[in-house]
Amino acid sequence: MADDVAAWTAGDEYFATVLGRPDAALGRSLDGALAASDAAGLPAISVSYLQGKMLALLVRATGARRVLEIGTLGGYSTIWLASALPAGGEVVTCELAEHHADVAAANLAAAGLSERVTIRRGPAGATLAELAAAGVEPFDLVFIDADKPGYAGYLRGVLPLARPGTLIVADNVVRGGRVAGGDDEPNAAGIREFLAQVAGTPSLSATVVQTVGAKGHDGFLLAVVGG
Ligand code: SAH
Ligand code: DHB
Ligand code: MG
Repeated sequence: MADDVAAWTAGDEYFATVLGRPDAALGRSLDGALAASDAAGLPAISVSYLQGKMLALLVRATGARRVLEIGTLGGYSTIWLASALPAGGEVVTCELAEHHADVAAANLAAAGLSERVTIRRGPAGATLAELAAAGVEPFDLVFIDADKPGYAGYLRGVLPLARPGTLIVADNVVRGGRVAGGDDEPNAAGIREFLAQVAGTPSLSATVVQTVGAKGHDGFLLAVVGG
């Protein structure tokens, strides 16, 4: 496995290099966000560079104008999502930890993205209920990446904020094979509960893309809300 991770990490570096870096300003914002997050003691669990670029491409490919993120950390994935928005677009990102939200706010300001991003502090479940009660416009793309035992509840909270065609992306649904392997650790069990919730929601059509890379073996669930 250690050898595998080394090869996967080399692959991440190779593909990032061969495909070309983002424009200089975005590259500086991304690198700066990771460095500042590290310096502030945040865990190194942001999406990878290639995964962040995938999120940005999904925003562009779907034409999303309104993006909802659950789990901000230092705002690395948020920068990718916000950088891909058309003029007038918005990311609403939910974060429980005040320290994480403070670091993210500074990183987004340094990236010049504060105007396009609203950080909602507090438990995401409560924030989702508040957004629904406020009758906000539906979101076009949702990225779920907070605590894994919370995912099933987040899906319930997201559906009233979605519309037919909304794309839902969820990180960390593979967890080194522990989800499919029946491991009873709370994170794997939480993801299985989430998968059951997805499967039990007839309006959703979903798949899982397993990934390998610098972060090991993991993957994304992609689901589209039907009509
Ligand atoms: N999306 C980020 C990584 C998020 S890590 C990136 O790729 O850059 C998960 C984050 O979810 C952590 O910052 C954690 O504090 C936050 N979190 C955990 N429980 C939460 C909850 N109940 N509501 C909102 N955020 C939560
Ligand atoms: C971990 C990775 C993640 O992408 C995440 O959102 C939470 C935790 C981890 O590797 O522990
Ligand atoms: Mg994650």
